[in-house]
Amino acid sequence: MATTARLTLDPAFRIGPVEPRIFGSFVEHMGRCVYTGVFEPGHPLADADGFRTDVLELTRELGVTLVRYPGGNFVSNYRWEDGVGPVEDRPARLELAWRSLEGNSFGLNEFMAWAAKAGVEPMMALNLGTRGVAEALELVEYANYPGGTRLSDLRRAHGADRPHDVRLWCLGNELDGPWQMGHKTAGEYGRLAAETARALKRFDPGLSLVACGSSNSGMPTFGAWEAEVLEATYEMVDYVSLHAYYDPSDGDVDSFLASGADMEHMIRSIAATADHVGAKLRSDKKIRLSFDEWNVWYQSRFDGESSLEWTERPRLIEDSYDVTDAVVVGSLLITLLRNADRVGVACQAQLANVIAPIRTEPGGPAWRQTIFHPFALTARHARGEVLRVEPECAAIPTAKYGEAPAIWATATHDAATGELVLFVVNRDRDDACALEITLPEGLRPVEHVELTDDDLSAANSADFPDRVTPRPGAGLSQEGRQASLTLPPVSWSIVRFAPNSPQE
Ligand code: AHR
Repeated sequence: MATTARLTLDPAFRIGPVEPRIFGSFVEHMGRCVYTGVFEPGHPLADADGFRTDVLELTRELGVTLVRYPGGNFVSNYRWEDGVGPVEDRPARLELAWRSLEGNSFGLNEFMAWAAKAGVEPMMALNLGTRGVAEALELVEYANYPGGTRLSDLRRAHGADRPHDVRLWCLGNELDGPWQMGHKTAGEYGRLAAETARALKRFDPGLSLVACGSSNSGMPTFGAWEAEVLEATYEMVDYVSLHAYYDPSDGDVDSFLASGADMEHMIRSIAATADHVGAKLRSDKKIRLSFDEWNVWYQSRFDGESSLEWTERPRLIEDSYDVTDAVVVGSLLITLLRNADRVGVACQAQLANVIAPIRTEPGGPAWRQTIFHPFALTARHARGEVLRVEPECAAIPTAKYGEAPAIWATATHDAATGELVLFVVNRDRDDACALEITLPEGLRPVEHVELTDDDLSAANSADFPDRVTPRPGAGLSQEGRQASLTLPPVSWSIVRFAPNSPQE
């Protein structure tokens, strides 16, 4: 039996512009994300720089706009100097975050060359774990100053003649977490972040800086950490970070399917915390949110860092994603769009192999995981302004989050083309949903694409790379301003409407 739901799409109900930077990803020196992921000299499809062209093509197809680098936990014990200069002179190091051997054949200049080929904006993270203001300033001078100083001339001697001009910098990573090298209290971190930000803004007031928020919403200091850190840094930073991973094997399936509702609660809590600090400081400034790590991660399958042997490019957390995971990833993207007025940056973690939409085999193929598809379609079709969409629908009881709406949706409207696009998830595990949509005048449906399957545990693999792909939805019809369609149980859909004529 089908449930029913209805919603109204109206270009007058604007939340904010679609921020291209929310379609970010993350390349960390972890497992096989860099080595045999994006970078594999000697691979049959590697280019002259050793970059896998199959992965570059998939990255462009995914629609990634920005990539955070080089960590993650990795950055908190990283010396950026180890990764520049002649490769034969670069040291091998013990990498403590993931107990791996780091050969440093890929570093800052390789990443910038890769980012240019992928057509993405770089977002760099600074080590504020084991290092401080001086090393951060040195890295920024090396990366961004045109030339004529020791560090900028060193970069030029290393073959990067033009400055990289990185605009977006993270002031460390997850420093509230006791697992982090150089873990700090909020007071210690706030002071270090403030002094680093002050120095970086002296170097270039136009840099955008991200203060570390909590590692996840389950941290005992969630909210309090952000308040203390922002009190110390408010006028010097532009963003505060949020991280969230949703584990399909942790709890009931309905809670997992409602992950987007939890992400929205987190976004609104941190926005409120930032605004509270702004009010206390009598500041007109609004801090934006950088959701710079988010994804589905089967965390309960990971035995922890201490269990790892010292090896190079270990197969670390190479989760294989099924149909339900893809629906949840689609709903997390809907959540990011629904909060377009606050979320200015977002990065799915990570890009290749490590909890990633792209998988590779060393010397072998690359393929799209199920979660690749909602990301690629959302990044391709979300344009213009995000619209407020509030479906009238059933509620589903969940063990973790109480009642969650069965239908989770957002929409975008592109004034330039007149196209209106609905992104919608049916979380119901038992029933399809007959969805009624009230449209503005003069629109016609052009496409309904859905991601679902009779077997929700189906996944893609090297042998069956296209087992799960988006397919045309059935039954989209329209009468006047009313459109209707059926959303299968546990499905993610995109529905596009275009003007009847270019004039309308
Ligand atoms: O993305 C994997 C890890 O998750 C990152 O290194 C860390 O920042 C987070 O805890």
